[in-house]
Amino acid sequence: MIPVKVFDTPQDAAKSLAAEVAELIRSRAAEGKPVVLGLATGATPLPFYAELVRMHREEGLSFANVTSFNLDEYSGLPREHPESYWYFMHHNLFDHIDIKPENVNLPSGLVAPEDLDAHCAAYEQKIKDCGGIDLQILGIGRTGHIGFNEPGSDDSTITRKIQLDELTRSDAAPAFGGIENVPKTAITMGVATIMAARRVVLMAWGAKKAPIVKKAVEGPVTSEVAASYLQKHPNACFLLDKEAASELQ
Ligand code: GLP
Repeated sequence: MIPVKVFDTPQDAAKSLAAEVAELIRSRAAEGKPVVLGLATGATPLPFYAELVRMHREEGLSFANVTSFNLDEYSGLPREHPESYWYFMHHNLFDHIDIKPENVNLPSGLVAPEDLDAHCAAYEQKIKDCGGIDLQILGIGRTGHIGFNEPGSDDSTITRKIQLDELTRSDAAPAFGGIENVPKTAITMGVATIMAARRVVLMAWGAKKAPIVKKAVEGPVTSEVAASYLQKHPNACFLLDKEAASELQ
């Protein structure tokens, strides 16, 4: 069973996770050691990032020893596109903290087709060269995706290009001003990449996520629901609000 913690509000859950992350960063800094964080995009982690920014501003939490790897990026979007994950991460977190720009890593949405395999392999290698991911933050899509590991992604998958599910594209359509503007593909870390993290924390809020949260936590471990593989992770946990937890037994 995946440990599940249920909170009254997303803000309460985000504060709890930010406190864990801050403790990890500070204890490593005290030893003069780096921390490698795996980061996620979407609406879900916004209160968590807001709390990290607050802790940086008000409590002096430094990210000088942090290296980050984001899960994924849309194909075809330049960094300055407001829906790119590069833009999202800088706008919501990196521009407001003291992480070193050279320690920020995201897959590129603009890599040429002939360079794609090398780009993905280099991303995997860089994670390994940094010592692996200490703590991977996740949201969950309504297809059960973590990162963009859509149905069919099994636990041997690593960083690669993926076709986005139509449900994922329709969920993203409002932000892009119509489904015709939503990229059809993305680059994402694989399930194996995520499973290799030493700790994994998945957040989910709201009643819309309740059915997929139930499948991920209580359903069979299957490539049809990539998040279900977290049942096999030795140190994974789900942080939910009451609505997202409402269908759990
Ligand atoms: C996108 C991201 C995922 C994210 C999911 C859910 O597809 N690639 O990493 O978990 O959306 O998004 P939201 O948090 O907005 O519900």
